[in-house]
Formats: sequence, C-alpha cells, structure tokens
Amino acid sequence: MYKIIDGKKIAGEMRLELKEKISEYKRSTGKDIGLAVILAGDNPASQVYVRNKIKACEETGIKSYAYYLPSHITQKEIEELVISIANDEKIHGILVQLPLPEHLNAEKILRLIPDKKDVDGFSANNIGKLCLNGNSLVSCTPHGVMKMLEHENIDLRGKNAVVIGRSNIVGRPMAMLLINADATVTVCHSKTQNLKEHCVNADVLIAAIGKAKFVTSDMVKEGAVVIDVGMNRDENGKLCGDVDFENVKQKCSYITPVPGGVGPMTITMLMYNTYLTATGAEID
Ligand code: GUN
Repeated sequence: MYKIIDGKKIAGEMRLELKEKISEYKRSTGKDIGLAVILAGDNPASQVYVRNKIKACEETGIKSYAYYLPSHITQKEIEELVISIANDEKIHGILVQLPLPEHLNAEKILRLIPDKKDVDGFSANNIGKLCLNGNSLVSCTPHGVMKMLEHENIDLRGKNAVVIGRSNIVGRPMAMLLINADATVTVCHSKTQNLKEHCVNADVLIAAIGKAKFVTSDMVKEGAVVIDVGMNRDENGKLCGDVDFENVKQKCSYITPVPGGVGPMTITMLMYNTYLTATGAEID
C-alpha cells in the first residue's frame, strides 16, 4: 500500500501556523513584514507562480510589493530597482522570479540581493552555509520537500537518496539537505550513465528533471519514497510531474502527486523564509 503525501494539506496547516506568528509579530512590533516580488517579461508560467506567491502573502498576512517589469527592461534599470529595494527597511525579503529575459544577466542581479533578504536562498553565502550545515535561508522547493518528509516521519538516516537533477534551485540544495539529514546521496543528471541502476537503489527518489512522466515504474525500488518536483504538461495538455504517477505509485511506500504535492510547499516555504528574514529567527 502506498500513501499519497498531501502537500496541499501540509502547506495549508503550515500557512495557518505562520499566519498566527506573523500576526503576533505585527502586534508586538507594530510593523508589517514585506516581500518584494520582481517579475520581468511575460513568461506565462512565471506569471502563474508570481500570482500564487502574492496570493499566499495575502493569506498569511505578509505585505507584498509586486514589480511587473517589461521584457525590454535594461540591466541597469533592474539593478537600480534591486538596489533601492535592498535599502528599503519596509521590505524584508526580495525575490526575482527566474528565468529572466535572456538579455539580462541574472547572476549579477541576484548578487545585489543582501544575504539577509535572500528569501530564495540563492546567494553564495546562504548556499555555503547550507553546505556547512549551518543556519541559512534555504531554497524553497528543497526545503519544502524536507518539511514533507519530516511531516510523514520518514527517517532519512543511512538511507539511499537519489536526486535526479543538479539545478542551483532544486537539485544541488536538495542533495545538501539530504546529506545534512544523514542520507547517502547520489546526484544524477543528464550526463549520468546507467541512470536506472542508480534509481532502483533509491530508498528515497527525488525527481527534479523537467520532463513529463520521465520516471517509470521499472526505475523505482519496491517500497521507495518518491518525491516529484516536476511541473509539466502531458500530451493532452494536462498538468503532470516528472514521475509516471499512475504506474509508479503501486511500487511506493509514499509518493507525492502533481498538482497538490511539492508545489504548494514551495510557496509556503517562501512565506516561512520571509518570516525568518523579518524576525531573524534561526538565521544570523
Ligand atoms: N523559478 C522557478 N522556481 C523558482 C524559485 O524557486 N524562485 C525564483 N526566484 N524563481 C523561480
């Protein structure tokens, strides 16, 4: 028997708890918690993500400052905006939605976000602290995955964890978090040989590839925990993950659905990180 991990439900419970804490912060300090969200261009997926992030701010009591920039914005203009927000005391967290239009140098723009306002956990300092197992702001998607595993009391100690994908946003920080939780971690990617051999050894398999239904049942060990970070469209235009859910679920002990799995957790962790940036709790 498999259990579907209900990310939407876990995220909803976390948001309620956060809402309480945020309202307590506002009561005791008389101040709002502010999150700036910058969206440049008209990427439809990014527009949906940003809309959902702003909705989550409303739900939890965070004041959002949305900056919708035209796709032809210049590097200098966006850099000046980030610098001015970085110096604005009302704003505790800054998020620049990726990908940016191609003519912009994203790395240079992200470097202007101070570590303490880096709610995405993308800065070299925050990534470095994560590698050293210290307190840092942690990238929202992998952080959300860890919260889901914790919620289900899934013990990672000594387990074989396989992460498919090595992106800066998901794969790399995910691998670090799993190492910090005492798992034995393998990171696979597009150049990995014998991908299936690695996957069938996984007690915990995390798919962050970006290809619809890429993980098939022959790649999954009996009783594995399968976490699907993907968000794709299948041949009929229906939302689906990186895992062939219908065929894989029978082999799993736990599996996350798409939608309603990792996605809602990602946004909740953004709210959580924004709360941390305002209160300074747990990070320094
Ligand atoms: N684009 C896709 N995922 C993310 C994310 O977690 N943060 C930002 N800033 N952009 C993204």
